[in-house]
Amino acid sequence: MDQYIMKGGNPLVGEVTVSGAKNAALGILAAAIMTDEDVRIDNLPDVSDINVMLNAIEEIGARVERIHRNAVRINAGTVNAVCVETENIRRMRASYYLIGALLGKHKSATVPMPGGCQIGSRPIDQHLKGFRALGADCRITNGNVIADAASLSGSHIYLDIVSVGATINIMMAAALAKGKTVLENAAKEPHIVDVANFLNSMGANIKGAGTDVIRITGVERLHGTTYAIIPDQIEAGTFMFAAAITRGDIMVRNLIPKHMEAISAKLLEMGCEILEFDDAIRVVGSQRLRPTNIKTLPYPGYPTDMQPQAGAALAVARGTSVVIESIFENRFRYADELARMGANIKIEGNTAVITGVERLTGAEIRACDLRAGAALVLAGLSAEGITTISDIAYIQRGYEHFEEKLRALGAEIALVNSEREIQKFMLCAG
Ligand code: UD1
Repeated sequence: MDQYIMKGGNPLVGEVTVSGAKNAALGILAAAIMTDEDVRIDNLPDVSDINVMLNAIEEIGARVERIHRNAVRINAGTVNAVCVETENIRRMRASYYLIGALLGKHKSATVPMPGGCQIGSRPIDQHLKGFRALGADCRITNGNVIADAASLSGSHIYLDIVSVGATINIMMAAALAKGKTVLENAAKEPHIVDVANFLNSMGANIKGAGTDVIRITGVERLHGTTYAIIPDQIEAGTFMFAAAITRGDIMVRNLIPKHMEAISAKLLEMGCEILEFDDAIRVVGSQRLRPTNIKTLPYPGYPTDMQPQAGAALAVARGTSVVIESIFENRFRYADELARMGANIKIEGNTAVITGVERLTGAEIRACDLRAGAALVLAGLSAEGITTISDIAYIQRGYEHFEEKLRALGAEIALVNSEREIQKFMLCAG
């Protein structure tokens, strides 16, 4: 079983280049099957969730050609099924994008109920509300979401909850509906804009993505395109916090500074120095962090996907911080793991009260979900002694070459899968 083993204490110093955004890529790969023509996608992150999505697309009949590690050509002119049955897709949240894509293009979709990280109950009622408003009949039977429509017609849809997934999904289906759709209370995350730009590059007519009202005028058909995915806001933020927690100095390259504003603001409050460039941010975290308060919110608020990384950093800050998680109810499971490392965190409902300790100490811990796993790696790299993290498949879902990138910054970390490899690491770590 793969594990990460690390010896903490080294300040991480140097440069790191951010990969393409996983969550944008998942929407874009699904949307790529909405045309019969060739679609080339560049800056695709090489992470396991992306490979699961590519397999699912291939299994319904699309041709998928891996041009290189970070580029793919898809031709969905050969899609022969609207029923997605791939086993692995059940474990993934973004499988829901195949509903919007298939419904838009083929007016019919059967997709397993989405899985994904156990960070909350994660219903899909808003997605279905949108599809129904467009004229689809939607039901959940035997663990599958089944959506059918004789035809789709534009509609006025108000989302009851700001949902990233529902916004993208409804946008995809509406792109090929007849007439105009107005989607209100839409989510505004950077990857929504990226999926909209991708669809527009295929001939869709989507306006207002990135604001809370998106207007979509349906078109007859979409055509082929070549498109490069935006940098991953959350991967970038994770490396920014890596500089903070290890008292290091990291230049994070290939990011969009505007997307990082909420994260940069919190790091400044915590006492880090932030230097902003056109497509890079340098974080200097040379001193003990100061406490701060954080509340997760939809974009442009502080992202829920960056909450565990902040929690880990605040666990070694000088004083008490309050972190409120307002998006997902089950996102503090990393606190129990940090407690094994000596952290002082009290959870009350959706609030964590974190009293910083001088130093965490190495321990045997497990990744409980993707972002929690990344946060625990950061904690291990700042801790005194050796930390091992199991269940790292979660982390591999969303971070490309994570351990290599961290090693290049001076981290002592290795991916091991046997006692022998653990012993070898211990010998080298001294
Ligand atoms: C996406 C991201 C995830 C991120 C989250 C919030 C992907 C694959 N995942 O997840 O990494 O943490 O956005 O930025 O892009 N909700 C409903 N009904 C719905 C849909 C959502 O009640 O139909 C609720 C959810 O339970 C949650 C909130 O709305 O409390 C926001 O969820 P949403 O934005 O939809 O997150 P995901 O798309 O699942």
